[in-house]
Amino acid sequence: MRVLLTGAAGFIGGAVRHELESAGHDVVGIDLMLPEAHGQSVTPPGVLRLDVRLAAGESAWASALEGVDVVCHQAAVVGAGVTVADLPAYASHNDLGTAALLAAMAARGVRRLVLASSMVVYGEGRYRCAEHGVQRPGTRPVAALTAGRFDTPCPVCGGALDWAAVPEDARFEPRSAYAASKVAQEHYAAAWARQAAGAAIALRYHNVYGPGMPRDTPYSGVAAMFRSSLERGEAPQVFEDGRQTRDFVHVEDVARANAAALTAVATAAQEHVSAYNVASGHPITIGEVAALLGAGSGITPETTGGYRLGDVRHIVASPARAEAELGFRARISPAVGLPAFASSPLRESHQLV
Ligand SMILES: NC(=O)c1ccc[n+]([C@@H]2O[C@H](COP(=O)([O-])OP(=O)(O)OC[C@H]3O[C@@H](n4cnc5c(N)ncnc54)[C@H](O)[C@@H]3O)[C@@H](O)[C@H]2O)c1
Ligand SMILES: [Zn+2]
Repeated sequence: MRVLLTGAAGFIGGAVRHELESAGHDVVGIDLMLPEAHGQSVTPPGVLRLDVRLAAGESAWASALEGVDVVCHQAAVVGAGVTVADLPAYASHNDLGTAALLAAMAARGVRRLVLASSMVVYGEGRYRCAEHGVQRPGTRPVAALTAGRFDTPCPVCGGALDWAAVPEDARFEPRSAYAASKVAQEHYAAAWARQAAGAAIALRYHNVYGPGMPRDTPYSGVAAMFRSSLERGEAPQVFEDGRQTRDFVHVEDVARANAAALTAVATAAQEHVSAYNVASGHPITIGEVAALLGAGSGITPETTGGYRLGDVRHIVASPARAEAELGFRARISPAVGLPAFASSPLRESHQLV
């Protein structure tokens, strides 16, 4: 297949490109080379410098979309956002960027899309009380966090809540500008599929890690931050009691999930829209992540009891639907991937503000 890959110079885009080319697909890679992500780095060979926000009528789209069967849309401004000043960047690159790309695809009859979404669309994880079933405990009060009470009690009986895996039909509850823009991308894709007889698959990645991940910035994920601390010879600072649970999925597995989704969307019915969690299926606590990363260094992580307002206690996705419908199952467990990541190269990155 001929695939237009946006964000081809990015962390995940680079791995997707490698995976697709190895599988024999013909990849047209485009990327704006945002200075916030790439500094002054030159555009990698084989990647065309192009802004997905270009109007549909612009001639650059004609060559980029020529003969393309499926678009794999990874380009975005990422991270949780640090200040309100970041809002326009998310709205511009993520919301407008996706809308403009879809309009350009419709203008050229390209009707298949794989979209990089995120588990941030759910906001909160899922919790279960042994007696009262699935509960939505709401955000944690500052007083509880300050007192070191990180687990939220069952709103009915005050007893302990366990986490449960979030299925794809959980409701959207975006809690940041970035999350809002990922929800918007999914909504635009669904609208486009209906209006342009297209088909779209959204992949909601969990915490992605692996070689080429951007270096420590206020926008990076916790794995890169721990990794960067270790590189400086400092102990990774683990918030709360280290028992908050997540899923860490290796970038090569994310690339394989994209390859599986491209194959599935290529033969999907018109107006088909679906979403899949992309997770390792091996939930892990943040304390364990720090310990696995530090294993070879002799540095012991520090559990600080600190907290970040707005952080959720647990979020773990169910990988079941992706396995059943896309045949995707992650191959690299965190127990193997995280220690290897401790010595992988990181990409220099630059802050948005
Ligand atoms: N890294 C994660 O843990 C994670 C988790 C969930 C979802 N995602 C999603 O995966 C995708 C890829 O993220 P990443 O981690 O590789 O980030 P990245 O910053 O490494 O890559 C994004 C790329 O998009 C490019 N880009 C931004 N705006 C553009 C525009 N207007 N036109 C063309 N190119 C543009 C950037 O230059 C960059 O190369 C994003 O959609 C992101 O939301 C990432
Ligand atoms: Zn209860």
